[in-house]
Amino acid sequence: MSDFQKEVADRIAAVPANKQLCETAAAFMSASTVPKYSYNFSWQGRPIIQYPQDMIAMQELVWSIKPDLIIETGIAHGGSLIFSASLLAQLDLCDAIETGEMLDPKKSRRKVLGIDIDIRAHNREAIEAHPMASRIQMIQGSSIAPEIIDQVKAVAQKYSRVLIYLDSNHTHDHVLAELEAYASLTSKGSYCVVFDTVVEDLPKEMFPDRPWGPGDNPKTAVWEYLKTHPEFEIDKSIQNKLLLTVAPDGYLKRV
Ligand SMILES: C[S@@+](CC[C@H](N)C(=O)[O-])C[C@H]1O[C@@H](n2cnc3c(N)ncnc32)[C@H](O)[C@@H]1O
Repeated sequence: MSDFQKEVADRIAAVPANKQLCETAAAFMSASTVPKYSYNFSWQGRPIIQYPQDMIAMQELVWSIKPDLIIETGIAHGGSLIFSASLLAQLDLCDAIETGEMLDPKKSRRKVLGIDIDIRAHNREAIEAHPMASRIQMIQGSSIAPEIIDQVKAVAQKYSRVLIYLDSNHTHDHVLAELEAYASLTSKGSYCVVFDTVVEDLPKEMFPDRPWGPGDNPKTAVWEYLKTHPEFEIDKSIQNKLLLTVAPDGYLKRV
């Protein structure tokens, strides 16, 4: 580890003791949820429902893991699929620069596989018309339906470095079922990221029209899953670094 990297690691490790910083970040997370801050952003023209800080963490994961497959549950407008595909395209470009081989920009050994119960026609059309589309495959259906799980597993077996993002229905039971179905596909050293664990830390009143809330959400599912899956550990350094994240305790590293 270089001196610079050590300074960064030490600085991040000191974050939890910085009460003012942590409370300020928690206040921002709380104040920004109802105004739908996460809906304000796009990636290469497609709306992405994420906090920009989590997107930086996702970029850091892709660069360090160099996955050949990213599996995402929850497509919505497709911004996250395009984001992931564009990062995989950058890896392809870097490979071509390093090896000197000609790059066919439409052909890639890397892929993003998205699953959503309801891929709206206008979203599908826009995703399929995007320059990144050749790296994207979509499956419509519930992410916990046995036939969908089978399809995802059939795709995953053709790849060797798999990164996973779970961001669909945020109830405890659904996320636990997704973890049981997909987390084992995560390659050693890679991550299964569970989004919207932050629901556990926010007041119940913030989710009046949702089936999830404190006590029943992705974070409670993660905690339950980890009781019987020691092959995963929460990478707290990521949430300590980001401070503003919808995935506290959600960055699960396969060790
Ligand atoms: C929060 S949005 C996904 C946001 C997206 N990952 C992004 O970053 O832009 C949640 C999506 O999950 C989908 N969804 C809800 N229940 C689902 C299920 N049972 N299986 C698969 N997708 C589901 C919804 O249709 C919705 O598009």
